[in-house]
Amino acid sequence: MLKIENLNQYYGGSHILRGLSFEVEMGKVTTLLGRNGVGKTTLLKTLMGLVKSKSGGISFAGRDITHAAPHDRVKAGIAYVPQGREIFPRLTVQENLLMGLATCPGRAPIPERIFEMFPVLKQMLHRRGGDLSGGQQQQLAIGRALAMGPKLLILDEPTEGIQPSIIKDIERAIRLLASTGEMAILLVEQYYDFAESLADQYLLMERGEIIMQGNGKNMQNDGVRERLSV
Ligand SMILES: Nc1ncnc2c1ncn2[C@@H]1O[C@H](COP(=O)(O)OP(=O)(O)OP(=O)(O)O)[C@@H](O)[C@H]1O
Ligand SMILES: [Mg+2]
Repeated sequence: MLKIENLNQYYGGSHILRGLSFEVEMGKVTTLLGRNGVGKTTLLKTLMGLVKSKSGGISFAGRDITHAAPHDRVKAGIAYVPQGREIFPRLTVQENLLMGLATCPGRAPIPERIFEMFPVLKQMLHRRGGDLSGGQQQQLAIGRALAMGPKLLILDEPTEGIQPSIIKDIERAIRLLASTGEMAILLVEQYYDFAESLADQYLLMERGEIIMQGNGKNMQNDGVRERLSV
């Protein structure tokens, strides 16, 4: 679904992404793990075209998108939930979800599936986004990303600063979404247990490079937890 080849990225003189190559498959959860500052968010911003890639290639659903504008990537079916969940605090939950539909031609209704996954969004439909708890805002950010019916859902540390009960809800939602086979999921995480429970495939990043990858079932045996905590 998504294929990255020899991707390089710099901020000024510092080489942040160093020749990254990997693939994300349809109907699977690919989990990218790495400690603070290794370049995870930079990678996602490069995938979305928010920072231009200096060299290397990105293809999505068989199409070269290396130089495509961010809105064209969204139109092509890539949804991005940024780190720190950037919802619109002064818009209602409903308005936030409608913003997620803005890229769709015509005015489709908000898919009911979002409310089945996150019932709290229905209860709070007319509350302002900024009045929701951190965990509820994360659910809203994911719901907004799903409104457009993406083929690839990218999540940047969705568990960061969120209470355990909501982490469980988000875990269930991600598993459900992958199991429908309708989308590929790229999940960036530092929270090992969450990542391990969801990963079909894992990638471990250190200083801008993928240093290990494999089947999610092998994460424990491969010593990924130890690598994250050193
Ligand atoms: N806009 C920027 N300009 C210059 N350097 C940056 C910029 N954004 C990030 N960096 C640096 O690039 C490196 C990678 O940052 P990035 O945010 O991609 O890491 P990360 O893996 O997402 O970290 P975290 O787990 O804390 O979110 C860090 O050293 C960071 O300080
Ligand atoms: Mg980050």
